[in-house]
Amino acid sequence: MQYDFDRPIDRTRDISIKWSPQLRREMYGEADILPMGIADMDFPTAPAVARAVQARAAHETYGYGYLAPEFLDACVRWQRERHGWDIRPDWIIYTPGVNMALVCALEMYTQPGEGVIIQSPVYYPYYDYVNGTGRKLVLNPLVNREGRYEMDFARLEELAADPRNKLMLLCSPHNPVGRAWTRAELERVGRICLDHGVMLAVDEIHADLVLPPNRHIPFASLSPELAQHCIICTSPSKTFNLAGLLVSDIIIPSDEIRAAFRKKMAPYYLWPGNFGTAAQIAAYTEGGPWLDQLLDYLAGNARYIADFLAQNLPRVKYRVPEATYLAWLDCRDLGLTPEALWDRMLHRAKVAPDNGVLFGPQGEGDGFLRLNFACPRAQLQEALTRMAGALGDL
Ligand SMILES: Cc1ncc(COP(=O)(O)O)c(C=O)c1O
Repeated sequence: MQYDFDRPIDRTRDISIKWSPQLRREMYGEADILPMGIADMDFPTAPAVARAVQARAAHETYGYGYLAPEFLDACVRWQRERHGWDIRPDWIIYTPGVNMALVCALEMYTQPGEGVIIQSPVYYPYYDYVNGTGRKLVLNPLVNREGRYEMDFARLEELAADPRNKLMLLCSPHNPVGRAWTRAELERVGRICLDHGVMLAVDEIHADLVLPPNRHIPFASLSPELAQHCIICTSPSKTFNLAGLLVSDIIIPSDEIRAAFRKKMAPYYLWPGNFGTAAQIAAYTEGGPWLDQLLDYLAGNARYIADFLAQNLPRVKYRVPEATYLAWLDCRDLGLTPEALWDRMLHRAKVAPDNGVLFGPQGEGDGFLRLNFACPRAQLQEALTRMAGALGDL
């Protein structure tokens, strides 16, 4: 079956952070701005997923659910088939989204005032997790080598050796720079953290969105030793556009860590929702062929951006990402301040990507824009054309 990713959908009447006219006015000062930020997709989910949710809705009772065997088995199969990672059903824990699980990990392994190692520029809520819980932000900035970001292992070793730094939050694949970390890179991070007793909370929410021929290496599959030293946070929410269903799979191979995580979450009495469960089972059971076509389409969009920029905005630097549907555009050669760049986006282009400034507290994202390309190509073309119009005089 051929799926249609070109079909535009009107999301303006959706209760959507990205598309609500009222929120766009509040956030950007323009209700009709073209939103190209917030990381959800302007595609409908896989038809099998939509059908499963509709069937669940038709049932008309929406009582408490639980982590049912068919839910757990679907997740186990998915990890094995898509990523070659063998997990057990009882390793899986539910939280309503990955953010909550990461904060839980952070509170389990650090006390207020202790350090959490984070590699910037990164998904900006990480800074809020740390600052909002009174922990200390310890930055190991990534190194930008002509658009390809790499980890600074020497600095990581130093930071990990400081006994006040107890946890590393690893984003794998990495949002916003689009790296799918290699086995060698992940092994090196793992070795450093093991040697210094630094626990790892690994955010693999973009794992299914690795663009071929790149591959996702599940962190806990690297070695039995590392599997016992991490909390893996993953989810079908980015992959199948289910963020509004509050789904996640928190996978913890270590009995001890899992028991501690469960204990910490127990007082909240969290149950997976009816619609999230239905969606997730369908996604992980029937969604593979749809996802393969999605990845093809996304790869086409990623290349489209490269061609468009080369022809129309050659001073904007961009490297096709290895993973995610996010383009990290380096606009620094345009010679604008980050404020002027943003002002041109909002008021001249009337396009709202995410402002790179948000992603780095030490200026790591200044002069960058993060453009979400999970949308029909015509919408992407419109956004880029408007951006070129707003920057073309430079
Ligand atoms: C790297 C990363 N982690 C976590 C999240 C949020 O996850 P959730 O909506 O499951 O809390 C996002 C959303 O964009 C993300 O990009």
